[in-house]
Formats: sequence, C-alpha cells, structure tokens
Amino acid sequence: MGMQVPVSLKSGHEAIHAALKRATGEPGALGETARSIARIMSGHMMREEKFALRPLGLLKALARGETPAELAEVAKLAQALRLEMPQMIDEHRQIAEALHLLASNAEVAGKPEYVALAEDMLVHAHIEEDVLYPAAVVIGKYAALLRGD
Ligand SMILES: [Fe+2]
Repeated sequence: MGMQVPVSLKSGHEAIHAALKRATGEPGALGETARSIARIMSGHMMREEKFALRPLGLLKALARGETPAELAEVAKLAQALRLEMPQMIDEHRQIAEALHLLASNAEVAGKPEYVALAEDMLVHAHIEEDVLYPAAVVIGKYAALLRGD
C-alpha cells in the first residue's frame, strides 16, 4: 500500500483547493488576492504532502503495533521535515496575511463564501502547525527508534 496521504486529509486539501480556484476567477481585488494565495499554496502544498502528510499515512499501522516496510523512508522524511518546517511555517504566515485580505475583499464584494473559506484555511493551517507537522516528526522519530537507529 505504501506511504500515502490519508484520504481524509487529501479530500480536505482538495476541497480547499477547489474553493480557492473558484476565488481566483473572481474579478478585482478579490480574485487578485486569491491568485496570490494560490501562488504560495502550490509549492507549499507539495512540500506539505511530501514531508508532513505522507508520513501520517503510517500512523494507523504504527498505532496497531505493526512495523511497516517504510520505516527507513519515514525516518528520513521526518528529518527533512524538520529542515523544511521553518519555511513551511513562514509560508503559513504569508498565507495568513493574504487570507485576512481575502476575507475583507470578500466582505466588500458581498461574497461571504470566501470569508468562510479564509476562516477555514486559517484554522486548517493552525491544525497543521499544532498537530499534523509535530505528529509527522514524532512518527519519524518513532520509526528511527523501532529501527534501532
Ligand atoms: Fe499548510
């Protein structure tokens, strides 16, 4: 089965992506802000899926006490995540700034769905920083322990 982003997280990301894509087609400042967020998001999400979300795909197996074949790979990814994390958190800061602007532009444009999108994305980023990134690091450390590295 391999190490894959858990389906629940993947579909959450896809929903955000789809809503943001709709926003990029809006006229004026709203669309412009959405496009600037989309630009930051494309590289950010690639890094995020590779270094943070794929390791989470092993979490259930590890919790069941299994020893997945990808222990060495996940231990390496978690080390890479620790290096990438400052940049990923800085991207969250840039995205959050732009999301505040998106929310106020959406309010001016009378598009409450994009105010809600901005709020969802801000909560999402907090969950990533508070829970998902640290969980991925811990998975990597645990994998290294299991391997006896
Ligand atoms: Fe993120």
